[in-house]
This record gives sequence, structure tokens and C-alpha cells, in this order.
Amino acid sequence: MNKKLFFSNPKEAFRQNIEQFLDVIRQTVWNGELCDGPEVKSFEKAFAKWCGVSCCSGVDSGTDALFLGMKALGIGQGDEVIVPANTFCATPMAVKYNQAVPVFCDCDANTWEILPCSVERCITQKTKAIICVHMYGQSCEMEPILQIAKEYDLLVIEDCAQAHGALYRGKKVGGLADLACFSFYPTKNLGAGGLAGCVLTEDVSVKEMIDHLKSFALDRQTGDHTQIGYNMRMDSIQAALLEYKLQFLDADNHRRKEIAKAYYDQIHNPRIRFQTVCSVCDPVWHLFCIAVNDRDRFMAHMQESNIICGIHYPVPCHLQRAFRDLHDSANSLPNSEYLSEHCVSIPMYPTMTDEDVARVVDACNRFGG
Ligand SMILES: Cc1ncc(COP(=O)(O)O)c(C=O)c1O
Repeated sequence: MNKKLFFSNPKEAFRQNIEQFLDVIRQTVWNGELCDGPEVKSFEKAFAKWCGVSCCSGVDSGTDALFLGMKALGIGQGDEVIVPANTFCATPMAVKYNQAVPVFCDCDANTWEILPCSVERCITQKTKAIICVHMYGQSCEMEPILQIAKEYDLLVIEDCAQAHGALYRGKKVGGLADLACFSFYPTKNLGAGGLAGCVLTEDVSVKEMIDHLKSFALDRQTGDHTQIGYNMRMDSIQAALLEYKLQFLDADNHRRKEIAKAYYDQIHNPRIRFQTVCSVCDPVWHLFCIAVNDRDRFMAHMQESNIICGIHYPVPCHLQRAFRDLHDSANSLPNSEYLSEHCVSIPMYPTMTDEDVARVVDACNRFGG
């Protein structure tokens, strides 16, 4: 039997360089400041530079990056924040952690990214911000969103958890709006050896506020805790691993693009629909999501070839039990609902060999009616 291929495989990247990773961990342990140590400052600087943004605050997850980022921007009780229904639950949950209200909009039928006309329909007197989630590694169409934000005086936050290095009109995501949040969950394009995340901003005072809040709101001069803060710091081992892995991120993203190109060029099955790539976007393919009509049968067919697919995501946020009370059931979000019923993630990770890619192509092409 062929080796098993998964839709994502972070373990393989660690396995191929395990001695180097262990050296990084060893060095960090000997340095002795295991939480929020100098490795964190060093990674913050390196990642901000890589993204072309001036300030970075490392935190303990992408979810907490969203929570703290919104808090630092002053989003709170009763504020409405527009969020695409086609995202991971962490995006709207972080809105709720701030006692604000997620308002769900639809995604585009072809790019599967946030749909500007649907955003505009969600705006009320209470709207404070829009969160653009760059899904699957492709940037959102930012210009119309930024235009709407300007017209209605709204903040724009980028959720870059799935798009480290994606370009929009030649510029990296993370520096396209008021603030950006990244996840370094192990499966991400830049993945830690556990949980980690960060916030990027051009505003030094926002960075300082996040640094303050993530560390129990401690005033280091006086020893005073100035408000109720949080314990959401990045740990030093994750920061050191991330900085070590950052040097390979461009090459990894390049390999993801090669694999995506092979899929687009070589999968010729009318039963399979692809995500449309917007002409001004250069995606980094965190996930390779396709849409098929008979998803269960497709996944079983792939499994027969030892290819394990995923679903991102099976229930759109507005229909999740956690959020259902927030959404008027008469107001459907048809593109997000379609996607949740038809999307499948086929294997996409930089350590895939050409032979692995050919197996996926072949299995997709053999899927019949
Ligand atoms: C779009 C999106 N936002 C936020 C998150 C949350 O990141 P984390 O798992 O690091 O908390 C994820 C992670 O899976 C994500 O995909």
C-alpha cells in the first residue's frame, strides 16, 4: 500500500530537521528565560521585518492575537464586528470574548473570500470593524473593503492565520489594514511546535497596549497591575523555533505554489471546482480546497488510494450552535452554505514529493460519476 497522504502534515517538516530543532530548543532552555524571553523579542523583530510592518507583539495563539488586537483597538461591549461566515470559529469567538457582536457576511461564490457587497449590507450604527480573513492562503480583495471602511469610518482587521506571505497587489498581507493577527498553530505555513500567534501593527501605542495586556497589565516600573490583564505571552521555545523556521518560509511557500500549479494544470475532472484566484492576488496555499458535489463519495474514493482529505469547514459560522442566536435564520448566506456542504481539502504541504502530488492528481482525475 502507498504511504498515507494527509491534507496537511506538519510532523514531516519537523522529522526532516529534527536535530536542528532540538538544538534550537536546547539553546533556549540553557538561555533560561522560558517565557517571553529575548527569543520572543528577536522573533517579533524578524517577523515584522519579513512582513514589512513596523511592530509585532508575540502572543500565545492566533485566537488571543485577535482578542487582544480588538481590545487594543477599543472594540468592546455591544460593538458590532463584521466577520465572514466562511472562517474558523476563532474569528467570531474572539469578537465574543470582547463582549462585542459578530455579524456574519457571505463569501464570494468563486474566490470564497469575504464579499464586499455582503459586508456593506451588514453595516449598522453599531458597526465598529470588519475582519478580513485571508482564507486558504489567498488574500481578500482589500480595496473595496478599505473603501467601505473609509466611507463608514470603520476599522479593518486582517486575520492572516492562513496566509503568511500571501500578496495583494504585490504587498504582503499583515500590512494592508489597521491591524493584523497571525496564528502559528503547527499546521500553518509558519507553524510553531505548539500554540503561538502574533499581532502586527504600524501603531507603536497599539503594540505597547498589547504587550501590557498580555502580561497581566503589569507596570514594570512600579510593580502595579494597572487593570485586569491576561496571561497570553508567547513562550520562548516557540519563538526560537519560529525564528529558525522563518528562514525556510519563502522556499516552503514557493513549493506550495508549485503544488497548486500542478493541481490547477493537471486535474481535469469536471466534477471538481477550484477556488478562483483573483488577478491581483498571489496566494500561499495554506490549504488546497476544492468543491465537489458528492463529497462523502469523493472522500471515500480518495481514502481508497490512502489519501486523507479534510473539510474546512463543515458548518459555516452563522449556523454553528455557538452563534445561531446571533443570526436571523431567514437571512441565508448561500455561498458560505454551499461551500460548507461541498468543500474538501486535498493534500497541500511543502514536504510533498512530486510523486505524492502525482498520486493526488491521479486520484482526483479518476473520481467518476
Ligand atoms: C482563520 C483563522 N483564524 C484564527 C485562527 C486561530 O488560531 P489559533 O489556533 O492559533 O488560536 C485560526 C486557526 O486555526 C484560523 O484558521
